[in-house]
Amino acid sequence: SLNASIVLLPGDGIGPEITEQGRRVLQKVAELFGHAFTFESQMIGGIAIDETGDPLPQETVNACRSSDAILLGAVGGPKWDDPSAKTRPEVGLLKIRKELGLFANLRPIKMFDQLADASPLRPEIIKGTDILFLRELTGGIYFGPSGREGSGDEESASQAMVYSVPEVERIVRLAAKAAQGRNNRLTSVDKANVLEPSRLWRQVAARVMEQEFPDVQYDVVLVDAMAMHLINRPADFDVVVTGNMFGDILTDEASMLPGSLGMLPSASLGSGGPGLYEPIHGSAPDIAGKGIANPLATILAAAMLLRHSLGLEAEAASIEKAVEQVLSDGLRTADIARGGDSIGTVAMADAVINSIK
Ligand code: NAD
Ligand code: IPM
Ligand code: MN
Repeated sequence: SLNASIVLLPGDGIGPEITEQGRRVLQKVAELFGHAFTFESQMIGGIAIDETGDPLPQETVNACRSSDAILLGAVGGPKWDDPSAKTRPEVGLLKIRKELGLFANLRPIKMFDQLADASPLRPEIIKGTDILFLRELTGGIYFGPSGREGSGDEESASQAMVYSVPEVERIVRLAAKAAQGRNNRLTSVDKANVLEPSRLWRQVAARVMEQEFPDVQYDVVLVDAMAMHLINRPADFDVVVTGNMFGDILTDEASMLPGSLGMLPSASLGSGGPGLYEPIHGSAPDIAGKGIANPLATILAAAMLLRHSLGLEAEAASIEKAVEQVLSDGLRTADIARGGDSIGTVAMADAVINSIK
């Protein structure tokens, strides 16, 4: 029996609706397997700006640091989208990732046979797809020097993409190790034909692979071509490692393989401290407050939390099995129903909770 303290960061839009379902699922697992999880909610994003002026209040950082793991919903929305605003909800998310040193974002693209109809792609294309993306999360263009220069017609804006050797080494090592535990294939995605940091990335990745992982099948693909391969021959990839922005874009694209952003969880890990778990999707302002958001990405993120931060593999698997069960039972939220019958956020979570064994 395990005691664990979990911080909830519901955030904005559908964030609170789905985080609550993740919490309920974790609570059910605790009861069933005899663990004691304590939950503490903290503010991040737009709601934190409204309440404190800061998208990541110090209190939130402190609570996260002293927790065992963090479950986050989503941040952002039209209310805070003014491009001339002093700060933004998204800043809070970038800061917590940086503060906790969460340089590796694991985004598994797992297919559910039951959802073959939910994908806009043909079944024979998506068949056999199982990709693990490793997105570098605390470097690259997201964190490079930025600014506005000049004024009026002369004004310009810049944001630099910066990667250092150790930053590339650590994410490539993690990706290569992940490949060894899977199908032993690693693809590195970059834009080395144009961007200097991508050329550094490619050199460092090649050296790490040659010297430390000669047994892993390794190749490189340019990001624009990768965008195309992903929907043409997704089953050919095993582990994919890439920089912060490329990973952001390619995984939203990859969500169309299983059929919805609402199905994809992620784990953000560093070296040692608490991990942060969240769906890859955002705050979905278009459906916020309607009770129709798909909670499964968050519920699957809760499973990753149990596996990666708490070492509870059987418990994690019990959630994943329950998700498969409700899909087999034909239950669908609107995003995966493709026009057919659908149920709401809470009903979907209820079904998962009742299926956990
Ligand atoms: P989004 O991911 O919020 O939504 C894109 C589309 O997918 C929308 O049509 C939405 O309704 C749908 N969708 C997303 N999640 C869903 C779910 N669980 N169930 C059903 N449908 C779902 O992306 P966006 O609209 O471009 O961004 C909205 C806001 O979210 C922005 O402020 C953005 O910065 C923020 N955002 C936050 C995160 C995060 O907190 N990790 C991630 C991405 C975007
Ligand atoms: C994500 C989101 C974030 C990102 C934003 C909201 C900062 O899109 O988690 O994928 O770009 O990393
Ligand atoms: Mn994203």
